[in-house]
Amino acid sequence: MTVLTTEQLGVLARAVSRAPSVHNSQPWQLLVRGTEVDLLERRDVELRRHDPNGRDRLLSCGAAATNLELAVRALGRDCHLEWRSDAAATVTIGRPHATSARDFALYRAIARRRSHRRPFSPERVPEAARAAVAAAGEAAGLHVVVPGQLGKLAELLGFATRVLRDDRAYQRELEFWTAHTHGWGAIGDGVPEAALSPEALPVAGLVRARTPVPDDVVLARRLAAEHLLVLCTDTDTRTDRLAAGAALQRVWLTATVKALVGSVLTQPLHLTGFRARLVSELALPGVPQAIFRFGYPDVPAAPSPRLPLGELFPPPGGTR
Ligand SMILES: Cc1cc2nc3c(=O)[nH]c(=O)nc-3n(C[C@H](O)[C@H](O)[C@H](O)COP(=O)(O)O)c2cc1C
Repeated sequence: MTVLTTEQLGVLARAVSRAPSVHNSQPWQLLVRGTEVDLLERRDVELRRHDPNGRDRLLSCGAAATNLELAVRALGRDCHLEWRSDAAATVTIGRPHATSARDFALYRAIARRRSHRRPFSPERVPEAARAAVAAAGEAAGLHVVVPGQLGKLAELLGFATRVLRDDRAYQRELEFWTAHTHGWGAIGDGVPEAALSPEALPVAGLVRARTPVPDDVVLARRLAAEHLLVLCTDTDTRTDRLAAGAALQRVWLTATVKALVGSVLTQPLHLTGFRARLVSELALPGVPQAIFRFGYPDVPAAPSPRLPLGELFPPPGGTR
């Protein structure tokens, strides 16, 4: 039994499509089965150098699941989300249920949220807004931490940046994902040049061969001028990674509702040994899954493209 009209399906598809994803790879598809909507993980999307274990792909699917859930609620239906081992998640659409003001505000923020890889305005974010942004990510098994020890963090990020900048195979892969967003090869994925930043960390977002690396003292000072959160999970299972992505998106949308902007950093976490050192140097309460930086915008951020909505639905006979 199909419960969704074409229009309603469009609402869900647009919300999923707007989710953030590693290198804007949009590694998901939707399978509608009556009152159940499966969010499928597209395992054919491979980032061998950046994301060899598919961890960021799962985080991305988790972020998309948050958007899917919010879109169902915005349509005035109850819903229940279950993480899956064979797909990413299944959202079961329930009875009619008035959309809460909070859910509707988060849903509306989906279209406004963008990766803001630029310096923020020097204006500090009030304590209450910071607390609300962090609280949006808290859930069982999940911790949102304001990192102390910025000197140590700067040292680690500086080290990771230099390694990634000089890794030619890594840079080739990144070049591919940042070069095919315009011109004849453009299909609606990848990160456009305009959305990146030529500046040094912490605002560069994705470290490229020409990214300037400041010394550790300068980097620590710049980190201190921003607001940072580290999302950690108690354990590091597939479900943890999905849930961390979902939490990251709740954090990001909550920031957007509060007229804040931000960007996410997972790139250094993929380096061998980096995660363990971050845990010990910053005394983190779990496995770090993503770093989120946020503040008020100084200049607007450029949008990134999206794949045509039709690509969200698997062709008859299977996923891509
Ligand atoms: C799991 C995950 C990891 C990401 N890692 C990084 C990163 O290390 N650096 C960065 O600049 N952006 C990162 N991003 C942001 C994506 O590049 C961005 O969401 C995508 O290009 C789409 O652009 P948008 O966020 O403006 O919609 C990440 C996003 C996700 C969901």
